[in-house]
Amino acid sequence: MKCLVRLCLLWLVLVQPHFVAAQKKTIDQRVDSLLQLMTLEEKVGQMNQYSGPWAHTGPITEDGNILQQVQEGKLGSMLNINGVAHTKELQTLALKSRLKIPLLFGQDVIHGYRTTFPIPLGEAASWDLEAMEQSARVAATEAAASGIHWTFAPMVDISRDPRWGRVMEGAGEDPYLGSLIAKARVKGFQGNKLGDINSVMACAKHFAAYGAAIGGRDYNSVDMSDRTLWEIYLPPFKAAAEAGVATFMNSFNDLNGVPASASSYLQRDILKGKWNFTGFVVSDWGSIGEMIKHGYVKDCYEASQAAVMAGSDMDMESRCYTQNLVHLVKEGKVPETVIDDAVRRILRKKFELGLFEDPFRFCDVKREQQALNNPKHKAIARDVAKKSVVLLKNNNNVLPLSKQAKTIAIIGPLAKSERDMLGFWAVDWPDSSYIVSQFEGIQQKLGNNSKLLYAMGCNIEDNSTSGFAEAIEVAQKADVVLLSVGERRDMSGEAKSRSTIHLPGVQEELIKAIKATGKPVVVLINAGRPLIFNWTADNADAIVYTWWLGSEAGNAIADVLFGDYNPAGKLPMTFPRSEGQLPIYYNFLNTGRPAENDKDRFYRSAYNDLSIYPKYAFGYGLSYTNFKYDNLKLSAETMNMDGKITLSFSVTNTGNYTGEEVVQLYLRDEFASLVRPVKELKDFKKILLKPGETKEINFVIDKEKLSFYNQKLEWVAEPGTFQVMIGSASDDIRLKSKIELR
Ligand code: GLC
Repeated sequence: MKCLVRLCLLWLVLVQPHFVAAQKKTIDQRVDSLLQLMTLEEKVGQMNQYSGPWAHTGPITEDGNILQQVQEGKLGSMLNINGVAHTKELQTLALKSRLKIPLLFGQDVIHGYRTTFPIPLGEAASWDLEAMEQSARVAATEAAASGIHWTFAPMVDISRDPRWGRVMEGAGEDPYLGSLIAKARVKGFQGNKLGDINSVMACAKHFAAYGAAIGGRDYNSVDMSDRTLWEIYLPPFKAAAEAGVATFMNSFNDLNGVPASASSYLQRDILKGKWNFTGFVVSDWGSIGEMIKHGYVKDCYEASQAAVMAGSDMDMESRCYTQNLVHLVKEGKVPETVIDDAVRRILRKKFELGLFEDPFRFCDVKREQQALNNPKHKAIARDVAKKSVVLLKNNNNVLPLSKQAKTIAIIGPLAKSERDMLGFWAVDWPDSSYIVSQFEGIQQKLGNNSKLLYAMGCNIEDNSTSGFAEAIEVAQKADVVLLSVGERRDMSGEAKSRSTIHLPGVQEELIKAIKATGKPVVVLINAGRPLIFNWTADNADAIVYTWWLGSEAGNAIADVLFGDYNPAGKLPMTFPRSEGQLPIYYNFLNTGRPAENDKDRFYRSAYNDLSIYPKYAFGYGLSYTNFKYDNLKLSAETMNMDGKITLSFSVTNTGNYTGEEVVQLYLRDEFASLVRPVKELKDFKKILLKPGETKEINFVIDKEKLSFYNQKLEWVAEPGTFQVMIGSASDDIRLKSKIELR
């Protein structure tokens, strides 16, 4: 036995590394040997991606002979191809090409494939990284079972402007939280390694700074300093790259005058250079061809040259590459080595996915049927959904509601809606029976114990108040009224920027009318972005922000409303009082005349006609219980560059409900070679406490947490004093101290 153990150890130490290296070299060698067989036309074919004719997520180009191009090896990938049947049909066609190179199938599996999870901004409100990883894992399992190899997610764009409809797709305004969420989602989609049958390639998008579009207007220009780019907008991309994300997608916007698709600064210097990214970059839909409209190139010929030289490896839907790259190489405008590098990156992923061994390994009908109807997935979706709910207000503990002997009214245009619960970027299925509406979820929760009344009250967007009378009548019969209001699912998302982000239509008028009945009013706000609802915020008895919670929305909301789950969500974005406050965010710079209250008119950088404060702050969210923070202790008050300081403090649940609290650590560099934000999130922990229970929490501060990009864009920590703030929200600091970095 001992001899056998020794032999195994010997193999592990002496032979296995070479075997692994040989294995690794095998993929690179196989890529190179295939590349040597390929004609220039076939290489360019791999760099070309079209959408399937069944669904379009961008402007449509009529192209009658897609199937013929597939068979001729002129396509390397397709997107928007749903299901095993379709992917099998197209893969079979692709294998008729000369070199039988399999297609990659990509899809926007952003927050679920069949089982639909909360929109990513809603999930971000859970601050639960494991939950978000699990959500991506389920999405990958279902998508992979349906023939999909690649999801165009996670979208990791930081945004500080809720007028931009795509905030729903990201993780909010903070680079630290956004970076951790990016890693969790990449890990969830890709699993332990590509090639696992339940793993799909992830795609960090949109590279870069797309969320900083001027005025929150989608596709608009982005103009920012390099320092802001590095400090705020790049960190989640860097985190995704460090997590091993297989692909990147560039963005529609120009960054300081250069369209991202042609930015070698972004794609070659930073991504493939500094960050040593070995995957491939796909353009966003048509973005290569759109450089003509940008006024950056004259035609598709120039666009192709600019894009491929800048590191855009695959052209989604613009058709520029397929029409021009061969000519550009033959005319000496683009070295074939540039093409080879792009094709190598693409082929490597196809090998890693195991598609050359078995191009149909993701095409198993039985597995597809099992995966798409797995009850475990529904349970996970319900769990993630309830964790995403944010309790904004709960006067006189009107929540949680009792399940016994009550007449409850649910009123509003979203109360019975099914598809709106999915939010934008959900995969549309013919039937909606798998979606649990709020009415249904509450009805199931109540059973026969109570009566549930309903009235629509008004539409989402029009100005008709004809439904008010019926709604008021229903409300008067109830002991408590739930009002389900907000946006329709297609009011946030791509190309959904809005100049006003108030509750649409006459919904706030409806809330006023119902409040006037004197009944307790609980408002559920369904939206893809922070909305403005100042009157409601000041007058409703309770407010629950439910985002769009996905196919288990009704069950999750019922769990929260009736106390089967104590909400613990925290806002990942600042909520403004007015569009005029935008952009507004928590980690702002102090200025020489900081606004410290709503009175001081001279020493304040603010508006004279509006409070200086947002309606709700980053990191804010209530619970059915309360938490006390105390006993802050520091392991030391000073540290050297290579040292660290441990903060310890206790948190006690002082209420009557078991609940989770997201304790947040913010730091402030008081004086530095560049002015620094008044606070920056640098750590957080989500802790569960029973009533009366106390836990000791530790945060460790090291140089990394004290560092920033200086004027030379070096990531440095400078000696000096740092404020330490521990709180329940960015504007609810419970414990403070200071430390000295020497
Ligand atoms: C869209 C989006 C991008 C998406 C792609 C494919 O225009 O900008 O996020 O992945 O096209 O649908």
